[in-house]
Amino acid sequence: MPTLIFGGAFDPPHNEHVKVLECAARTLKAERVVVLPTFLPPHKSKGFLDFATRAELARIAFANVAPEVVIDDAERVRGKDNFAYLLLAEMKKKYGDIVYLIGGDSLRDMDTWRHPERIFAECPVAVAPRRGCGDAQRLAQEAREKYGGKLVVLDVMGGDVSSGRVKAELLLGMPCREVPENVLAYIRAHGLFSGFAETVEKLKGMESEELMAHTQAAVMRAIDLNSRHNLKQDFIEVFTAALLHDNAKQRPSVDGLDVPEDCIGTPVLHQFLGAEKARRDFGVTDENILSAIRYHTTAKPAMTVLEKLIYTADSTSYDREYEPIPTLRAATDEDMERGFGEVLKYTYLKLLKKGGRVYPLTEDAVRYYLPELISDKTATKPQDKEET
Ligand SMILES: [Fe+2]
Ligand SMILES: [Fe+2]
Repeated sequence: MPTLIFGGAFDPPHNEHVKVLECAARTLKAERVVVLPTFLPPHKSKGFLDFATRAELARIAFANVAPEVVIDDAERVRGKDNFAYLLLAEMKKKYGDIVYLIGGDSLRDMDTWRHPERIFAECPVAVAPRRGCGDAQRLAQEAREKYGGKLVVLDVMGGDVSSGRVKAELLLGMPCREVPENVLAYIRAHGLFSGFAETVEKLKGMESEELMAHTQAAVMRAIDLNSRHNLKQDFIEVFTAALLHDNAKQRPSVDGLDVPEDCIGTPVLHQFLGAEKARRDFGVTDENILSAIRYHTTAKPAMTVLEKLIYTADSTSYDREYEPIPTLRAATDEDMERGFGEVLKYTYLKLLKKGGRVYPLTEDAVRYYLPELISDKTATKPQDKEET
């Protein structure tokens, strides 16, 4: 009877983790499951629960998935060099016959792991396919050919839940059904994921219900895109920028804040003002966040990944159901760069069609990203895309 090894941040553990682990334990007839919470070095742990809390949540979530469940703190003990191939060698020594359980996203990204061939040399690998992460059977066959070793594809499908999504829901104070009840009870009792409660309340006083619903939808969209495309943007930066991107939308008074003269009285004012008011009213000092808010409507040349992410998430947020947004959303789901380009193109052409008045930054962005669309004869007077 093999021991199943399951690693993850578990920040927090959710129903899909439980479902996948139960399926793997049942399929492989595992008597024992060893859960390995990821240890995050201090500089990477911003926005995550600490190790002991995540280990405790994992213990609660996975208590009944197999006859014996061990929460192993090997990663914390090692502290560094927590590469899977090294951890698995250690687990094999400790527990004997092991199988390593991974998700379809990990299989897809296996090339980016340190010494994948040594992982497969160490033990069999079981993979839980994940929606949107490629054809697991095909990827498994490719991995077998490339790395050798044994790989089993489980009869389970994941991908509808992510820890980032769950975390965002909890931070927004939204209902959260993707977490086991006992885990949720622990989270509530210990006030976990409540760090943004004050900010969210304050924002609710500044945004109409409709705008707040859009804000929540944009947050969820940004979190999803960040994880779907493995953009590796800091969770707190993505969350904060999306949460506050429209904070000035219904507060147009300039109050002497530093915004470009030519945007006053136009719909793009709220992006510049939003950045300044996020700084003034919400104490945001992170320039990456402020900049993502500052250009979320117009775009600009040479955008950072975070700026593009917030721009695209806003335009394809889940509350926008009118054509062609669902089409643009599907394009963005498939390929972030292409999606961003299509959103920019749609916005620009729509503005031209409406009267040819485009804010200069948008025109610069089009010239930079989509040079084939623009000629120097195009008008450059301020205007903006319509959005909330
Ligand atoms: Fe906006
Ligand atoms: Fe927005």
